[in-house]
Amino acid sequence: MRKHTTIPNSSPVLTRICAIESVMAILRERKPLGEAVSSVGEKLGVPAGEMPFVRNLVAGVLKNLRLLDYIILRLVKSGKYPSDIIAAALRVGGYQIIDGVIPDYAAVDTTVDAVKSFSVHPKEVALVNAVLRNFARRWRDIKLPADRQEYLSVKYSHPRWLVRMFLKQFGDEAEKLLEANNQVPPRTFRVNAARVPPRNLHNWLKDSGFEFEPGGFFEEYFSLKSRVSPAEFPPMNMGLVSVQDEAFAVPVYYLEPSPGEMILEVGAAPGGKTGHIAEMLGGKTRHFFALDISPSRCGVIVENFSRLKIFPPGIVAADFLRAPFRRRQFDKILIDAPCSSLGVIRRHPEIRWHRSPQDVKRLARLQKRLVAAAVPLLKKGGILVFTTCTLADEENLGVLRFAKRSSELVQLPPPDTIPPELIDVNTGAVLTLPHRHNLDGSFTVAFMRK
Ligand SMILES: C[S@@+](CC[C@H](N)C(=O)[O-])C[C@H]1O[C@@H](n2cnc3c(N)ncnc32)[C@H](O)[C@@H]1O
Repeated sequence: MRKHTTIPNSSPVLTRICAIESVMAILRERKPLGEAVSSVGEKLGVPAGEMPFVRNLVAGVLKNLRLLDYIILRLVKSGKYPSDIIAAALRVGGYQIIDGVIPDYAAVDTTVDAVKSFSVHPKEVALVNAVLRNFARRWRDIKLPADRQEYLSVKYSHPRWLVRMFLKQFGDEAEKLLEANNQVPPRTFRVNAARVPPRNLHNWLKDSGFEFEPGGFFEEYFSLKSRVSPAEFPPMNMGLVSVQDEAFAVPVYYLEPSPGEMILEVGAAPGGKTGHIAEMLGGKTRHFFALDISPSRCGVIVENFSRLKIFPPGIVAADFLRAPFRRRQFDKILIDAPCSSLGVIRRHPEIRWHRSPQDVKRLARLQKRLVAAAVPLLKKGGILVFTTCTLADEENLGVLRFAKRSSELVQLPPPDTIPPELIDVNTGAVLTLPHRHNLDGSFTVAFMRK
């Protein structure tokens, strides 16, 4: 973090300093948004009550980054940013002007005061002031590019390679996806059905005055409309619900876990789906194993189960490519694959700036190796479910084609519990899409071992 000349105790300025520092940490050090904002906020001593504001401000900057740069760099005489701090400050100031929640003069003044707390030259402070004033006067009149790809990339602030990829995969529908990626997603929870029937919890919510909507696809989900943070939501502390998008029920429904079966989840941490599988097993997790390469993230699975108050599965911290399992041991394996996460941009706007086409290629290769490693561990007639939270065909269809070439696997249709509107007719797999289903983007397919 930067050294500041003085840290003001005025909270409007402090929150802008926090936003500027966070934007720098996310873009330069590739930190996840939540982690960056919390660690900067803690170091600067931003009051807890102000943190949601900072988080929204930073998310807003990331969702509008290309648009902001497009406007700002037309207003900076040199056509480039003099430094990372000034770039971040102009983006934070510019976003507040576009957002329009506070008057333009307040957006300009608080940003200029925030910049003063960094050790920058007075000329740079003057530049921020002049550019933001100009921004407020002129941003509505600046014409967007004529070229279609560049227009979409600037308007919806996605990198060009991603726009190109979405256009290739979705045609004209790509614009709706780009738009949905910038919208605020529902605040969805999954009921811990091993401890409370979903309907009872819904009734409790009603009686306690919480506003909510039942899930659109699976009965154990609901989205909370009341403005309460998960930490202050009593069913969360009691382990009766978990935060999870409804899309991620799909692979668990595909798996149809039942208590006597030997089940393995690969890529299990931090344990979102592991919890759901254990809930479906009614807590009978004796034959269930959850494996992840990251020991620290395996620790989070353990914490998750102590909150859910369910007996945990066998947790294995290991690289699945060197997995310590006997051959033909499992009835069912779920691979929740490491992926480019391009389906969850609406919840993690920084992902679009952190990924590259090379990541997609690298992950597509790793996913095929994970599938190949799973096949020998399955019993004859055993089931392999493969899932990602990405929308990159190179990963999803790459694995589907790879598995179809295997003489040992045969693709299975989705079970009847999966709503037909989630099934992709071209592949027979499930593809959830933010703009079509108001779900996070995900892909799931299943195979049987011959
Ligand atoms: C999509 S995330 C899992 C999300 C999790 N299943 C959930 O629902 O909360 C993929 C996981 O795969 C793990 N992973 C990556 N490479 C692996 C490998 N070679 N062996 C085992 N796990 C791996 C990562 O550590 C990461 O936790």
